[in-house]
Amino acid sequence: MTKSLLRALKGEPQDRVPIWLMRQAGRYLPEYMEVRSKAPDFLKFCYSPDMAVEVTLQPVRRFGLDGAIIFSDILVIPDALGQKVGFEPGRGPVLEALPGPEAIAALSREGLREDLAPVYQAIGEVSRNLPAEVTMIGFAGAPWTIASYMIEGGSSKDFAKLKSWAYGAPEGLARLFDLLVAAIADHLCAQIEAGAEVVQIFDSWAGVLPEQAFEAWSLRPISEIVSRVKGVHPGVPIIVFPNRAAFYYQRIASSSGADAVSIDATVPLEYARDVLQKAACVQGNLDPMLLVQGGEPMKREARRILDTLAGGPFVFNLGHGIVPQTPPDHVAALVEEVHNWRA
Ligand code: CP3
Repeated sequence: MTKSLLRALKGEPQDRVPIWLMRQAGRYLPEYMEVRSKAPDFLKFCYSPDMAVEVTLQPVRRFGLDGAIIFSDILVIPDALGQKVGFEPGRGPVLEALPGPEAIAALSREGLREDLAPVYQAIGEVSRNLPAEVTMIGFAGAPWTIASYMIEGGSSKDFAKLKSWAYGAPEGLARLFDLLVAAIADHLCAQIEAGAEVVQIFDSWAGVLPEQAFEAWSLRPISEIVSRVKGVHPGVPIIVFPNRAAFYYQRIASSSGADAVSIDATVPLEYARDVLQKAACVQGNLDPMLLVQGGEPMKREARRILDTLAGGPFVFNLGHGIVPQTPPDHVAALVEEVHNWRA
């Protein structure tokens, strides 16, 4: 009996709909907060295999989810390339912003697998301790999203600096992307070699790009990463999450080479069924705020998603990550609703 998440991603018929949730390990769980209180530095926490293993398994144990996503962060890549990354409470990630393309020369991919060895060690450890029906998920950020933090120096409202590179210094940005594509593909391959059975690429900021820039800085580099990973590990499914990509979801689904596309909560379900599911497995897309709300409003929307999408290749997830104010009981109720659903 193959794992239900793997079956869905490969487009095989399922007897139940698999569910996992982006950011399923995190601050909404009291048991996470307890481990987190022992590790004031967030990146050190990510690089402590014992703690990373524990918080990866917490939501799987508590809720009976079908996937375990390794506890780590997309910003381990700039960190491994040699750009200092910090996390400040209330501010999120803080990086020393790259001042211009000349700063790329100081970054290097050399030693990446050694630097990120604790992540691979944690993946190996989790996969040896997973229930037989649970799938191990690895992940990385997409180049556009990682570059946004590297160039803006943290979160941004308008991506002014990143876009000034894209429009004013595209050769410079392309050099950074060459480095990122190689680093991300290698990081995903290493996670697979450590035990990841599926990998997801998060392009959280794909939705801020005009058409040609989307092609150049989201679709093309993601396709290149997919093709490199598939070249080494052809059997491992790849999920791409181009958050808020609206009109572009179809291009990701049909021409990135990914097995599945993860859709945000704004994507119309009939469109996902009639257009996206013809090209790829679909994952999504409950609004994380409906998980905060819970009760009938959450269950009603979950059933509408299931009724529309579960007739084809489908993985239940949120439209974006769980937020810290989410009551854990609502997660338990959602998992039950999805697992009990029948056509
Ligand atoms: O999904 C999981 O449970 C696996 C772990 C995971 C984390 N971050 C842990 C984390 C994953 C998959 C990520 C991805 C990530 N990280 C993304 C892409 C997904 C998305 O949300 O769009 C991005 C953009 C980041 C960068 C990042 N990391 C930000 C902006 C922040 C601060 C914002 C926040 O929520 O506090 C982080 C920190 C972070 N990464 C936390 C967790 C659980 C919270 C840190 C804490 O415990 O204080």
